[in-house]
Amino acid sequence: MKEPYSRERDSLHDMPLEEFRQAGYQLIDWIVEHFGHIDEVPVLPAVEPGEIKRMLPQEPPPEGEAMEKILGDIDRVILPGITHWNHPRFFAYFSITGSGPGILGELLSAALNVNGMLWKTSPAATELEQVVLDWFRQMLGLPKEFWGIIYDTASVSSLHAIAAAREQLKAYNVREKGLAGNKELPPLRLYTSEQAHSSIEKAAITLGIGLEGVRKIPVDAEFRMIPELLQKAIQEDRQAGWQPFCVVATVGTTSTTSIDPVPEIAQICRKEDLWLHVDAAYGGTAAVVPEMRQVLAGCEEADSLVVNPHKWLFVPIDLSAFYTRKPEVLKQAFSLVAEYLRTDADSQVENLMDYGIQLGRRFRALKLWFVLRYFGQDGIMKRIRYHLNLAKKLADWIDRHPNFRRMAPTPFSTICFRAEPPGVTDRETLNRFNETLLEKINARRKVFLSHTKLRGDYVIRVAIGNLRTSERHLEEAWELIQEKYTETLKEFSLAAGS
Ligand SMILES: Cc1ncc(COP(=O)(O)O)c(C=O)c1O
Repeated sequence: MKEPYSRERDSLHDMPLEEFRQAGYQLIDWIVEHFGHIDEVPVLPAVEPGEIKRMLPQEPPPEGEAMEKILGDIDRVILPGITHWNHPRFFAYFSITGSGPGILGELLSAALNVNGMLWKTSPAATELEQVVLDWFRQMLGLPKEFWGIIYDTASVSSLHAIAAAREQLKAYNVREKGLAGNKELPPLRLYTSEQAHSSIEKAAITLGIGLEGVRKIPVDAEFRMIPELLQKAIQEDRQAGWQPFCVVATVGTTSTTSIDPVPEIAQICRKEDLWLHVDAAYGGTAAVVPEMRQVLAGCEEADSLVVNPHKWLFVPIDLSAFYTRKPEVLKQAFSLVAEYLRTDADSQVENLMDYGIQLGRRFRALKLWFVLRYFGQDGIMKRIRYHLNLAKKLADWIDRHPNFRRMAPTPFSTICFRAEPPGVTDRETLNRFNETLLEKINARRKVFLSHTKLRGDYVIRVAIGNLRTSERHLEEAWELIQEKYTETLKEFSLAAGS
């Protein structure tokens, strides 16, 4: 009969199983308590830079420490420095959820600790990833030809899309020669809107295209790329000796969540023979709701598309779903098989290391699988719809208030607005007023809102997307915004007006 592990007998082994069980229960209990009282916890920490570091020993522990002590330090040292992204009143950037099933999937992934670089290094990791991404593809209404892979972030997904677009330019043979070996060929140009996420420019920097190789197309009054100006830019660039190769459209831009006109952009890409990548990192998930399906209109024509389940699909950070109809181009760009990585299954399977820059791969598909199964298509749809309805409510409260104005349409669950005190029309004053207002709101630490600038105007953003957020939390936020508005009026010596 097998003897149970004992720390005394075998100190070179892992943590004894019984101790793991106890600590595991304790940690799960801690998480349950934490979620149970999260409403009472300030969403923002109150620490100065360096304060957390000062509470930590500057040297590693010479001897092992008791788990009790380690867990105790979570409350004492770590929590004071946590910004609670998993909080119902977190409305900054894009609001997200590490949901219960997602957390459990993450835990199991660490326990199995597989490296899914090859099919053979864990067949279930590869095959579950393929199946679960195909489920998600169906939920989004994307075509069957779309082949999926999980990367860590949308930034990395878009980087792979742009690398594949570059690979498609046969004359350049970038894989062999690099861009430096192509001095006689025209420099590459990529197009995206003025409102695109900075990750597109970062990808251009990384891939040797450079910032000059990114041409930003102006947007219309609703912050959407203007297709006629895209067409004009491509023509101008061809005449000026550039090689256009890729267009990145966005469904749900970071500042306002605007939706580029993908059907028109797709038509231009077809005509000009350019790779079309769609960054739907945040907005794409809305397509699981039938009445929102049209947000992905035209995306069926894209060469690639990214949606982040770690943004609005309740999957803990990080998990980005990347789809392409041309996996063979991606493979051509990245596959490089060292001898030790060859297996007897290679002719029958997909080895996911062949489709990206990384070799080792976490078993991320587990947490997406847990989330999709636990909530089901219907449960996910209802939750997204609820967030969309909450956003409509706040948009309506703002629209009905004489001293607040929405600064962009609200196609998803993110609202852009600013305060406009009566009689104040000067841009500088309005910007300072709203910046001060936001500082005062966040200083209470009860809600967390973020900001952006639109055509020089300082704008406050409220993003809704956490599963614990209810109408009550939104009401609390709206009350606080109005209370701090009155305080800001006083500070600016302005009359309350209407
Ligand atoms: C539209 C869009 N694309 C890409 C990103 C980058 O996402 P990630 O952090 O997954 O790289 C963001 C981040 O908010 C985004 O809003």
